[in-house]
Amino acid sequence: MARHLITSALPYINGVKHLGNLVGSMLPADVYARYLRAAGHEVLAICATDEHGTPAELGALAEGEDVAEYCARHYEVQKDLGNRFELSWDWFGRTSSPQNHVLTAHLARQLKANGFTDTHATKQVYSLTDSRFLPDRYVVGTCPNCAYDRARGDQCENCGKPLEPTALIEPRSAISGSTDLEVRESAHVFLLQSRLAGRIREWVDTKADWPQLTRSIAYKWLDEGLEDRGITRDLNWGIPVDPDDFPDAAGKVWYVWFDAPIGYLSATREWADDRSGSPELAESLFDTWWRCDRGADDVTYTQFMGKDNVPFHTLSFPATLIGSGEPWKLVDRLKSFNWLTYYGGKFSTSEQRGIFMTDALDTLPADYWRWFLMANAPESDDSSFTWELFGDAVNKDLVGTFGNFVNRTASQVDRHFGAVVPSGGESGEIEEELWVAVKVRMGEYIDAIDALQFRRAAGALRSLWVEGNVYLEAREPWKTVKTDMDRTACTLRTALKLALLYSVAAEPFVPAAAGRLRDGFPELADLDLPFDTELPAMCREAVEEGSEFAKPGMLFTKLTPEMLDEWSQRFGGAPE
Ligand code: 2FM
Ligand code: ZN
Repeated sequence: MARHLITSALPYINGVKHLGNLVGSMLPADVYARYLRAAGHEVLAICATDEHGTPAELGALAEGEDVAEYCARHYEVQKDLGNRFELSWDWFGRTSSPQNHVLTAHLARQLKANGFTDTHATKQVYSLTDSRFLPDRYVVGTCPNCAYDRARGDQCENCGKPLEPTALIEPRSAISGSTDLEVRESAHVFLLQSRLAGRIREWVDTKADWPQLTRSIAYKWLDEGLEDRGITRDLNWGIPVDPDDFPDAAGKVWYVWFDAPIGYLSATREWADDRSGSPELAESLFDTWWRCDRGADDVTYTQFMGKDNVPFHTLSFPATLIGSGEPWKLVDRLKSFNWLTYYGGKFSTSEQRGIFMTDALDTLPADYWRWFLMANAPESDDSSFTWELFGDAVNKDLVGTFGNFVNRTASQVDRHFGAVVPSGGESGEIEEELWVAVKVRMGEYIDAIDALQFRRAAGALRSLWVEGNVYLEAREPWKTVKTDMDRTACTLRTALKLALLYSVAAEPFVPAAAGRLRDGFPELADLDLPFDTELPAMCREAVEEGSEFAKPGMLFTKLTPEMLDEWSQRFGGAPE
């Protein structure tokens, strides 16, 4: 039994996430966590809301709410949605937790003690009307390069030129629209990444097994030269800088991208505090997952994220941990995703295009979305959501293949044998061939999930379902029932053994349907069926003649063209 720590990129607190956010981190992390648990490993799956930074402040402002209350409310919304999507986190924490305050302060102090920070004055735009400094992207004005009149202070969206906010013509505040701005000096703490570049490169060099997308992003930044990075901000909301440690930056808060990944540690500490009776016990439990000198050396740590997050996870966050001089656990396997688009375009909240987690669950159960998203995960390239593709994935794979096999088997059993596994008949060559093929497919499936290749894994699972249907077609129990009861019994018993196998194999992708199918075998409820290549043999043995089998009912409902049409109208379909 191995120990696996799994984290998914922490979703920003401001607003319900869309399906693109889900497929790029939380959902694949869940599929992997479920698989590893079913394979008998010890798993700790951690996520949290990313609650600091300007987006949280502005989100609260827009809703006329105190920012702490806004975060508390949205945290509950996101946690509830995650649970309804069957995301099996061991803990869903918050980066605003006391634990994150303590760990962020601690790591900052360590970085300073080791000479990896520096505090110096910088020039920042201050809005007199808003009584606050404005982050670069919240200063807007006319681009000096192309005259676009809504250019942002970090980059012009129109011509792509990177900008300084002070370069904008007629600058104004994106928050209030005020032009009453001035440039003020403000001291900030910098993380001296340039001094850590050599050690980070040495560490990245050891990660030959990272996917190409991940490695190329990491080396691009290393080759361009890692720059020192401001890690404090002039905001009210965030983790305050400890003035005893950084007197020149008193009154500032840590930059959201400094404290957010520390949230992986602190959410683990929240989990440990929740389970342990004393701070000492909590600390030692936490340490077994995160401190290599106290047990975490045997942990395999896998992170999931969208590709835009890769530089932070391959460079800045490791810089924080390595620079602390303490033996923190660093990521072993990093799975990054391209973008899921909606008909080739961006999901857009403001234009009401695309599907958000709430909409999805109001429309269909989680399994439908989970299957489509993982079977079409944007792994080697961007992938597109369209209602046509969604309808095909559901109708062909879930309804037509998995559901059809279970439904045909269960109906025949129910009709001709009652609620029991049929007795009689002997399995022969065709069954032997079936089980050989199923074992091969199972091996392919496991290889794909182990390699974190989710589309390939979904394809292998689909092939397992196809084996069952091909077998039924070859044996035609609906015909043989009229002439040969023994043969029919053997066929349907074999099909039920496959159904038990599917209830384990399909669980990471479609946990609700898999659970209902597994409930069909009440006498096997406590049987441990590990997710490995021996699973087919175990299922073959476990399902005994005469044992109880309860028909699970329809696992999935077919989506009609009318339904798909209506949803496409409601959510905005193909662009005109
Ligand atoms: O891009 C995002 O959605 C960020 N909130 C991800 C943070 S990941 C981690 F560092 F916390
Ligand atoms: Zn421009």
